[in-house]
Amino acid sequence: MLPEGGALLRGVERSAFASRLSALYGEVRFEEPLACHTTIGVGGTAVFFLSSEHPADLAEAVRLCAHHGYPYLLLGAGSNILFSDRGYPGLVISTERLRGVFHEGDRVRVFAGEPLPTLLDAVNRVQTRSLNFLAGIPGSIGGAIAMNAGIPARAIGEVVDEIAVLDLSGQVKRLRAADCGFSYRKSRILEERLLVLWVRLRLDGAPYDREEILAHRRAHQPLCTCSAGCVFKNPPGFSAGRLIEEAGLKGFSVGMAKVSEKHANFILNLGGATSADIRKLIDIVRQKVYKSFRVLLELEIEVIDG
Ligand code: EPU
Repeated sequence: MLPEGGALLRGVERSAFASRLSALYGEVRFEEPLACHTTIGVGGTAVFFLSSEHPADLAEAVRLCAHHGYPYLLLGAGSNILFSDRGYPGLVISTERLRGVFHEGDRVRVFAGEPLPTLLDAVNRVQTRSLNFLAGIPGSIGGAIAMNAGIPARAIGEVVDEIAVLDLSGQVKRLRAADCGFSYRKSRILEERLLVLWVRLRLDGAPYDREEILAHRRAHQPLCTCSAGCVFKNPPGFSAGRLIEEAGLKGFSVGMAKVSEKHANFILNLGGATSADIRKLIDIVRQKVYKSFRVLLELEIEVIDG
């Protein structure tokens, strides 16, 4: 049965698209609930959802979408994304099955869907602590690269040696760190919607203590309730969390979405929050912080319209 919702494709074209997708080695699902693929646990369904351990499948899916002019969205561990309650009207391409960590001397090569915690387990096993600044970040390595994830003292872009990406025509390209346009929670990869296949990172011997960083996070961040991590970027010279707290918004809620009392830059899904609740809360926070301090908070998470 073909899904009803393939909004932008009709009749014969939609069935050709679906049957070519189904011919891939990976798993294709129709009307897949996106809430199960995000850490904040909200979102409607994706018309099509593909996950595969074969880079060639992902490349073919990108080419198919380009050929049919069909919208697609790249998804890692879903830790920094807010889907709409209406879901996504196209193909979600997930890298969750593209896994593997390979040591190469003083470098490590890791496939995009590898979760950061298992990457850290692997590099710590060979006595290298230099990636431990990523401890406690829940994403996949591909998502971390796109967002240039990190802590105030260091971001992942600073240890990138080389990245293999798929461009918009499904061709594999190799990029050096200098080609990636890394800046605070930004990269060319995110801006140009490039799909990360793998990344080679430098292990430079920096002695980050994983347990200490995790303990600091547990003490200051609400890690046991569903969230998408920090919602806003820190404006230059300010802490978004402190501004939200000083605007009196800690604990403020809309429906089942609530500003964390532990760290005000986290919005929690207390169970059953809708995407609309969270978006409303985001708007209220931005307005209140702007009114109080004349500072416009910029989103760190990606909000996807359905
Ligand atoms: N603060 C408050 N109230 C709050 C939260 C923070 O007053 O509700 C104050 C803190 O006391 C501190 C300052 O604000 O003096 C900065 O807070 P914190 O050390 O918690 O760091 P942050 O700037 O809020 C950043 C990253 C986090 C990362 C921590 C690691 C951003 C937007 N956030 O948070 O990243 O975990 O540093 O220390 O860059 C994420 O990207 O999802 C994320 C959570």
